[in-house]
Amino acid sequence: MQVVIAEVGELARRGADAVERVLRERTDPVLGLATGSSPLPIYDELVRRHTEEGLSFALARAFLLDEYVGLPAEHPERYRHVIERELESRVDLDPERVQGPDGLAEDLAGACARYEDAIAAAGGVDVQILGIGTDGHIAFNEPGSSFASRTRVMPLTRQTREDNARYFDGDVEAVPARALTQGLGTIMAAGQIVLIAQGSGKAEAVHQMVEGAVSAMWPATILQHHPDVTVLLDEDAAGKLQLADHFREVVAAEGR
Ligand code: GLP
Repeated sequence: MQVVIAEVGELARRGADAVERVLRERTDPVLGLATGSSPLPIYDELVRRHTEEGLSFALARAFLLDEYVGLPAEHPERYRHVIERELESRVDLDPERVQGPDGLAEDLAGACARYEDAIAAAGGVDVQILGIGTDGHIAFNEPGSSFASRTRVMPLTRQTREDNARYFDGDVEAVPARALTQGLGTIMAAGQIVLIAQGSGKAEAVHQMVEGAVSAMWPATILQHHPDVTVLLDEDAAGKLQLADHFREVVAAEGR
């Protein structure tokens, strides 16, 4: 894992650099997109590069990590709408080439299998953007998730529903109890992973992910087994890292 501790502008630039590299170097770039508030600075920087520097998403495909089960098609908090608002509609990403798991399917298991097939047919994800939950979840892989898991239905923990209630007028009961989520095995198949976290609320989960024992109790710890992970942290999210000074020295030595 490469860990970068910096102010948010620098984190956004580094996240956007990883995406830009894939967009420029691949003829058929495949992006893995996360929702939540954490990746928004990266998306804003990508939009800026699109607007001011002509960075194009026209050839890209994109896959979302997850989707709530059962939210009405027009509900603004459906992740498919969130990504449309936050990125897709602000760049030249073709909506036909952006896909999320279908949380309104009658046959949810079938929808999950089809989603795995679609990712495979696209050749797999080149760069996956991730956030992290306060309980160490990535996408919606809650504690106890199998490291081999693929896209499936996941019951959400009370903690996650409370964390996400802010998007539902503070009403925990309005947060769906289940979601479809790429599995940890699905996420681990991405070529490169960029995880971004801000704020002290994430500090314990970040400490476990980077420095803890690999355990299903902290699902993000599986990322220790991925060969190409960059962890982008602000000072608060890095607040519990024992190796923080070491990570700072390594980055300073890059000469950036
Ligand atoms: C949600 C999403 C995750 C996200 C996490 C953190 O539960 N399913 O993909 O990483 O919350 O969200 P935020 O970035 O808003 O803190």
